[in-house]
Amino acid sequence: MNYNVQRVMKWSTVVLSLSIAAVCVSASDAPAAGASKASAGDALYQVQDGNKVDQKTLQGWKTWRALACERCHGAAQEGMVGPSLVESLKTLSKEDFHDIMMNGRPEKGMPPFNTSAMVNENWEGLYAYLKGRSDGKIQPGRLSPMQ
Ligand code: HEC
Repeated sequence: MNYNVQRVMKWSTVVLSLSIAAVCVSASDAPAAGASKASAGDALYQVQDGNKVDQKTLQGWKTWRALACERCHGAAQEGMVGPSLVESLKTLSKEDFHDIMMNGRPEKGMPPFNTSAMVNENWEGLYAYLKGRSDGKIQPGRLSPMQ
C-alpha cells in the first residue's frame, strides 16, 4: 500500500520532470554526436546512429550484459519483475543510482552488486547507458564502439 502510494507519487514526478527534461535535452543535444558541452560541462554519454557509443558507455552496456540485469528488468529495460529503468532513470539521480547498485533493495528483490568488480569499475558507464536508453537516444540491443 505504502509502496503503491510511493509509486504514484513517483509517476507524477516523472510527468512533471518530463517537461523540464524536454527543455534540457533540446538545449544539450544539438550537436549530432551528443558531444556537446552541456551546462554541467560533461556529456554523460555520446552516441551515433543509436547504437555506437563512447567507451565508457560501452563498458556500462557490457556490465549490464555480464550481470544479466535483463533477467529482472527486461532486455529493453522496460521492466519485468523489476521496474522499467527507462522510466526510473528519468528521475533517479546518479547518487541514488549508485546507492541502489551498491546496497540493492534486498527486501524488494533488487540484489546488491557491491561485490562485483565490474559494477564497481563501470557503474558510471552503466548509469550513462541506462540514461541514454531512458532518453531514447540509445537503442535497445547490441552496441559497438563509435568511431
Ligand atoms: C533478481 C532480480 C533483479 C536483478 C538481477 C536486478 N534487479 Fe534491479 N531491481 C529489481 C527490483 C525488484 C527492483 C525494485 C526495488 C524496489 O521496489 O525498490 C529493482 C530496482 C532497480 C533500480 C531502481 C529503480 C527505481 O525506480 O528505484 C535500478 C536502477 C536497478 N534495479 C538497476 C539494476 C541493474 C543495473 C541491474 C544489473 C546490474 C539490476 N538492477 C539487476 C530486481 C532486479
